[in-house]
Amino acid sequence: MKTDTFAQHITNIRQKLTQAPNEPEELRIFLFGKKQGLFSEAASLLRELSPEEKPAAGQKLQELREEMETLLTEAENTPSKTEWLDPTLPAADRPVGRLHPLSQAINEITDIFEKIGFTRVRYPEVEWDHYAFEALNMPSNHPARDEWETFFMNAPEHSQLGKMVLTPHTSNGQVREMERLNSEPPIRMINIGRTYRRQQDVTHTQMFHQFEGLVVDKNITIQHLKGTIDHFAKEFYGPDSKSRIRPFHFKFTEPSFEIDFSCTICKGTGQLNGETCRFCKSGWHEVGGAGMVHPNVLRAGGIDPEKYTGFAFGWGVERTYALRPGLHLDDIRLLFTADPRFLEQF
Ligand code: DAH
Repeated sequence: MKTDTFAQHITNIRQKLTQAPNEPEELRIFLFGKKQGLFSEAASLLRELSPEEKPAAGQKLQELREEMETLLTEAENTPSKTEWLDPTLPAADRPVGRLHPLSQAINEITDIFEKIGFTRVRYPEVEWDHYAFEALNMPSNHPARDEWETFFMNAPEHSQLGKMVLTPHTSNGQVREMERLNSEPPIRMINIGRTYRRQQDVTHTQMFHQFEGLVVDKNITIQHLKGTIDHFAKEFYGPDSKSRIRPFHFKFTEPSFEIDFSCTICKGTGQLNGETCRFCKSGWHEVGGAGMVHPNVLRAGGIDPEKYTGFAFGWGVERTYALRPGLHLDDIRLLFTADPRFLEQF
């Protein structure tokens, strides 16, 4: 076969290009379809050329291919006449994210306390023994520390502040806040943060959140503590909610209490359809601890306990949140899954 025969063949193919369809998908098949596409047809004669003829013919074929590709790109970029753009149509729905339920709870707790004059603060998660225990009237080797199943860091000790720990409670913020304010009350702190303990079951996770309140001023009494807790219960759980305090023991408060909120399901009666309420069994849920700040803790923060008194409380965010009406979370670990089927409900 002669080179000019091949050239003629290419010219014929080029002529067929004038009948090419406009619609991109049809055009693609017309040009590059495996069996009947123009390009295959053009290339079919290449086999019959001698080795000397092939390079020049190959060059021509390549030029044709480029022309065809340009045609196709143009067709693809030309809006089809049958495709209408209606600018008056509402926009397509775009999925919008939302805050994680725990972040929502933290924001709500912050708002409730900020409205009554508390200041939100955050203190270190990786903390010195001093702020987590020692300054809270729990000297080293005191058995009370066992309650706080603490993670100790594998890090050098500080000469004055002791070992490094993952803070097991937000009470570490108490003496830090006294220091931040140069030991000058009034103090109205709400410290919300992550806390860590060596525990894991349906009601406990190794990482969880707490919120810690601290108020120090002249003439602060248990009445202020009780009023604040009641206010929180009504704001967070609804106007019918009640709170109560029961005597307990913490080293950093004297007297100390445990705080209960009335059950939102049986409305604090302990009875549901003539039977014992299976959610609370007593009408009450325990949420955390509280008390009047121990004089030694005020002293550790440079405050004179003869002049000032204070109250403090500390609760788990997850637990407080799980007791919300309509939200009966049997397994607190659900809050830490990234499963959208769970999270989309909030
Ligand atoms: N920090 C305690 C805990 O994690 C809770 C607590 C009890 C905090 C009494 C307080 C308090 O501020 O006064 O179990």
